[in-house]
Amino acid sequence: MNATLTRAMERNTALVDAAMEKLLASTPDLPESIRKAMRYSLFAGGKRLRPTLVLEAAECCGLNAKKALKTAAALEMIHTYSLIHDDLPAMDDDDLRRGKPTSHKVFGEAMAILAGDGLLTKAFEAAAENAADNKLKGKDAAELIRLIAYGAGAEGMVGGQVADLAAEGMKKKLSKQAAAKILEGVHRRKTGALIVASLDAGAVLAGAGKQEREALRNYGECIGIAFQIADDVLDVVGDKKKLGKKGSDIANDKLTYASLYGVDGARAKARALVEMAHANLKGFGRKADVLHDLADYIIARDK
Ligand code: IPE
Ligand code: IPE
Ligand code: MG
Ligand code: MG
Ligand code: MG
Repeated sequence: MNATLTRAMERNTALVDAAMEKLLASTPDLPESIRKAMRYSLFAGGKRLRPTLVLEAAECCGLNAKKALKTAAALEMIHTYSLIHDDLPAMDDDDLRRGKPTSHKVFGEAMAILAGDGLLTKAFEAAAENAADNKLKGKDAAELIRLIAYGAGAEGMVGGQVADLAAEGMKKKLSKQAAAKILEGVHRRKTGALIVASLDAGAVLAGAGKQEREALRNYGECIGIAFQIADDVLDVVGDKKKLGKKGSDIANDKLTYASLYGVDGARAKARALVEMAHANLKGFGRKADVLHDLADYIIARDK
C-alpha cells in the first residue's frame, strides 16, 4: 500500500469507527447481550474497504467525507453481518474471522444470527439518519435506501451467497465455460454488489449526476469481482495469520477463480479487471487518486 492510500485508509477507518461507536452506544433500549455481540464482530478488525469507498466516492463527487459517515458505517455494518452469517455452520462453517473466534463460537448460533440481523437493520436506520441530517430531497433519500437494499438483498449479496452455496461441488459436473459463467455471477453478486452499492451511495449523498454515478458503478463492478478473485487466491496461498481466517474453500469444494483457473490464471483475470476499473475513473481526474490506488491495492493485498 502506498503512503497516500495508507493515510486515506487510516483517516477513513478512524472516522468510521467513531461513527459506528456512536451508532452502537449503550441505551436503555438496546439489550447489552446483543450490543456486545454486534460490537465484537464490528471492532474485531477489518480493512474497512466498503466505508472507504463510500467516503471516497462522496468526495469525488464534491461532498465532504464527514457528511457521509453514517452511510459509510451502514455499509460496514452490512458487510460485517454478511461475514457473521457466512461463517455459520450452515454456511461456510468457519471458526476464525478477523483473527478472532467467529461470532457463533463465542456467542452461540442464535445470538450470531441475531447479531447479524441487528447490524443489518441498524445499517438502514443509520443511512436514513444520514439522509435526514444532510436534508436530502425525498426522492434522493429513497434512492439511497433503495440502492443499499438492492446491493445487500436477494438480487445482490444474499443472492450471490445463495448461488455460492448452490455451486459447491459443481466444478466437476460442469463444462469450464458453464462454470465460468456461474462463477462470474456469484462474485458479481456476493461481493461486487455491496461494493457497487458503497460507491453509488457516496455518489447519491453527494447529489452526483447520472454520468458520475454510472462511472463509479462501472468501476465498482470491476473492482468488486477482482476483490473476490483476490480473496479466492488468498484462500489458497495467503498467510492465515495475516488474513485472520483459515480458508475453507477447498474443504467446502467451492467453485472459485483459483479452483477454475489456477492461481496464476485467476491473478491475470483480476489484473485485467483492475485495468478496466482505472479506465472508468478517467472523468474524475486527480480527485479519484485514492480510488485508483485502491484498485491496485485490492489485488496486491496480502490480507
Ligand atoms: C471478506 O471481506 C469477505 C469477502 C467479501 C471477500 P474483506 O476481505 O473485506 O474482510 P474484512 O472486512 O477486511 O475483514
Ligand atoms: C464471502 O465470500 C462473501 C460474503 C458475502 C461474506 P467468502 O466466503 O469467500 O468470504 P471469506 O473468505 O469467508 O471471508
Ligand atoms: Mg462464503
Ligand atoms: Mg466464507
Ligand atoms: Mg473467501
